[in-house]
Amino acid sequence: CGIVACILNDKEAAPVLLGCVRRLEYRGYDSVGIATSSSEIKIKKDKGKIGEVQKMLDLTDLPGKMGIAHVRWATHGLPTKENAHPHTDCKKRIAVVHNGIIENYRELKDELQEEGHDFKSETDTEVIPHLIERYMDNGADLEEATRLATEDIKGSYAIAVMSMDEPDKIIGVRKESPLIVGTGDGEYFIASDAPAILQHTNRVIYLNDNEMVILNRNGITVKDMDGVVIEKEIDTIDWTPDMAEKGGYDHFMLKEIHEEPDAVKKTIMEVSDIKKVVEKFPKFNRICFVACGTSYHASMIGKYLFEGIVGIPTDVILASEFEFSAGALDEKTLVIFISQSGETADTLKALRTANEKAETLAIVNVLGSTATREADHVLYTRAGPEIGVAATKTYVSQLTCIYLLAICMGQNEKLLEEIHKIPEYMKNALEKEDQIKDIAKKYKDAKDFFFIGRGFSYPTAMEGALKLKEITYIHGEGYAAGELKHGPLALIEDNVPVVAVVPPGESHDRTLGNVQEVKARGASVIALGSCNDAVLRSESNDIIEFEDEIRDLWSPLPYVVPLQLLSYYMSVERGIDPDKPKNLAKCVTVE
Ligand code: G6P
Repeated sequence: CGIVACILNDKEAAPVLLGCVRRLEYRGYDSVGIATSSSEIKIKKDKGKIGEVQKMLDLTDLPGKMGIAHVRWATHGLPTKENAHPHTDCKKRIAVVHNGIIENYRELKDELQEEGHDFKSETDTEVIPHLIERYMDNGADLEEATRLATEDIKGSYAIAVMSMDEPDKIIGVRKESPLIVGTGDGEYFIASDAPAILQHTNRVIYLNDNEMVILNRNGITVKDMDGVVIEKEIDTIDWTPDMAEKGGYDHFMLKEIHEEPDAVKKTIMEVSDIKKVVEKFPKFNRICFVACGTSYHASMIGKYLFEGIVGIPTDVILASEFEFSAGALDEKTLVIFISQSGETADTLKALRTANEKAETLAIVNVLGSTATREADHVLYTRAGPEIGVAATKTYVSQLTCIYLLAICMGQNEKLLEEIHKIPEYMKNALEKEDQIKDIAKKYKDAKDFFFIGRGFSYPTAMEGALKLKEITYIHGEGYAAGELKHGPLALIEDNVPVVAVVPPGESHDRTLGNVQEVKARGASVIALGSCNDAVLRSESNDIIEFEDEIRDLWSPLPYVVPLQLLSYYMSVERGIDPDKPKNLAKCVTVE
């Protein structure tokens, strides 16, 4: 989610706030809302993308020179008008926008409801205005009431609060969710990040956790949570507004690749939800994964995991082919649908077919999407919104969720411990970026690429080839390394690039043998492997080395990172916009 707030000098707040939240749309796009304050608090909000809601409601048509605004990426409560922010207290004298998660909101909500507070939404956020109301009714001013409310809540939050009882004041608090303060010419802002407000000011203060900022017409005061004033430095940002939307990265895709360790970490935090779903399962004797595109490659890894860890026969079927192989489904089959959007037409059609015969589970990134409403069970990946058309952080989040599901179903405590190391491995993989940039320059004019791997590295090779095709328009083929000799070897000649995914483990020596075969026929080998693999190094023209001891079972998560970066930098080298490849769409709603 993204939040923004402002107190302006001579302009109306609503049009300014709308411009600001548009720049935060990459943080969430399932609902939007603005509240302004003049003689009373007025709110306009609804579900949908900003453009859609703006057309419906005209969010700029709200009176007042101060206000707060929000774009939402739903986590608690579906994307609906009621769940959209801002949220208010009973008397509609306090309005709040929030980014983060309030872990103890159920207890707080029960307590407040017993005291007579009336709730309108299913969100965790709504407890905040009611808590503030409780303390203001007991005599506290807005600042003190906000401070007391934050003492009650557990979790992460960046909030902006305003109250009719103290007009001309906005309070912001930060704990484990980003919040910055902007200071313009007699105009003051709070926002989730600098991009939101850069068109109005480039002078910002970075708040730390447990700091509160009070904005009023005379300026800004920052305090700690004991109310002691803190002197903060004002920084000047030299970003252009356009750069800033992407957090300083040139493209969303690059930003999203860099968000992968965090996306994996957040998805690991979903393990208790996964355990709850698994507890509800009857005994299955077959698993069937169904998906398209990148989600299909995540499913392929699912097959190896489920057969290896849970010991259940597992199939992987392309959603568009599902109707031709749905015959053998029965109630002892669990059909798992993998889809970042939850809206892919082929996947939904297959889900409807499977629902008639088998138990269904959807693993999805977008809360409230069609797949989540139609499947028997739902698990969420926590990648946050992905804007780049080519899936990156949603892929690694899907993988994480599939690993956790297999681990929970197989009750494998050791693997559950090991998974916590993965985000660090991925961070280390991101550090190879400069080297990958050089490799991309070297191979940018190649006509054909091959990607090879065995076992867990076979789907990784497939995904590497798909990324290449999608965003560089170079022909790429992902092959099971053992299949080379049955055809593609005939296509290997001098300087054809072959990307070999060769982590240590069971399949290592045989894939190394395939590397030697293609090398002998003139291929340029770009290898991915352990830094201790001297033989692989000697057979490779370029090698991306992993310093961590990553066994092959875990390799799909860190090893895909260099492949995504390689395609990204080749795309840029070739003058293509990797965020918007031609002829492709993020969400394909036609069969
Ligand atoms: C499109 C996207 C891909 C995605 C595929 C499946 O082709 O461009 O990035 O992998 O759809 O989408 P889904 O939302 O079902 O995962």
